[in-house]
Formats: sequence, C-alpha cells, structure tokens
Amino acid sequence: MSKVQVMDHPLIQHKISYIRGENVGTKEFREVIREVASLMCYEATRDLKLQDVKIKTPICETIGKELEGKKLAVVPILRAGLGMVDGMLSMIPTAKVGHIGLYRDPETLEPVEYYCKLPSDCSEREVFVVDPMLATGGSSVAAIQMLKDKGVKNIRFLCILAAPEGVERMQKEHPDVDLYIGALDECLNDHGYIVPGLGDAGDRIFGTM
Ligand code: PRP
Ligand code: URA
Repeated sequence: MSKVQVMDHPLIQHKISYIRGENVGTKEFREVIREVASLMCYEATRDLKLQDVKIKTPICETIGKELEGKKLAVVPILRAGLGMVDGMLSMIPTAKVGHIGLYRDPETLEPVEYYCKLPSDCSEREVFVVDPMLATGGSSVAAIQMLKDKGVKNIRFLCILAAPEGVERMQKEHPDVDLYIGALDECLNDHGYIVPGLGDAGDRIFGTM
C-alpha cells in the first residue's frame, strides 16, 4: 500500500490556511501556491538516494554526498497543476517537465483528456505528478494511468488539498503511488468541491472566476 504523508510543517499549514480565504487575490494566491509547492517538494524528496562524491575544497580533499544519478520529472495536471511547477523547480531545477491536460466535466465529474506531452525518456524518470486538488480522484487517477501506459514506473503525487474520497480512490487504483498532501480536508460537497477547501484552484490561480 502506498505511503500517505499529510504535511505537518507549520509553514505549510500556515500558508494553506491563508490561501483558503475568499478575499485572497490572484497574485497572492499564485505566489503562495508556488511557495507551498516548493516546501512540499522538499518533504517529498526526503528519501531520494545519495551517493558519495569526491570534492576538493579550498582547504583539502573530502567525500561529500550528491543525488544518485536518478533522473527526475515534474508533470502538472493542467491547468491548476501549472501553479505548482515553479515551486517544484526551485528545489529540483534540473528536472524535466511534462504536461497532462485534463478537465473535470462539471456534470459527470469525469476527467476529459485534451493534452499529453512528456519527456521522451519519461519511463526512466522518477515522476512527480502535481495538482493542487485531489477531490473525487478522477483526474489524478486518469493522469497516473496515462503515465503508466507510457511505461513510467516510479510516480509520486503531490497535492495541496485532498478529500478523503480522493485519497481512498487513489490508494485503490494506484497502490504503488505515494501521496504527499498539504492538508486533508473533511469531505466533498454535492458539486464535487472539497469542503472546506479553497474553491476552484484553476480559477483562483489564473483569475478566471
Ligand atoms: C481541478 C483540479 C483537479 C481536479 C480535481 O481541475 O485542478 O485537476 O479538478 O478534481 P477530481 O479529483 O474530482 O478529478 P479542473 O477540472 O477544475 O480543471 P482546471 O485545472 O483546468 O481548472
Ligand atoms: N477542483 C477544484 O479546483 N476545487 C475543488 O474543490 C475540487 C476540484
């Protein structure tokens, strides 16, 4: 069964509480999403493997640590996932970036695919899928299936808010994918929105309310 890590870092909790507020404007919302993503990236990369490296400092030779050669990729689920990319890259600047376009049909709540462009060697990479919201789980389950269909084996999923329903569905459909969650909320409402949530993440990031 996958690992589910709900962030307990005070800075992450503080920042998430702040952006829930309905009066936070687009500029600030976008900035704080980026900051939370970078802090979450720090937590989600805690177990990356290291190898010894010889270093010559101005004083002497020594052995330090560097990330083992494993290649990384960040894959946002469009649109809202785009808001997390810069924060992720501030921590792992050499990662490649792929894009998966999905939107949730407002009537059926089912994901509709409209775009997929991934690094050519994606199947050899450790992939961090990012989307601020895990609600019913339909979008993230579909995005991860698209990656698996292209041969990707090592996948982690990062979201800023999750509903228990989405977590359960992800664990059922993709038990091999570890989940990193900024805050775990109470439930979904009748329209499939996370409660208490923060509203429509894509609209708030891009100002399309
Ligand atoms: C939102 C969000 C997730 C999805 C979550 O995207 O960014 O991708 O809904 O809901 P689910 O877990 O029930 O699938 P949306 O469909 O609103 O598209 P957008 O990012 O283009 O605004
Ligand atoms: N998508 C969002 O943007 N917000 C929600 O609460 C649920 C799905």
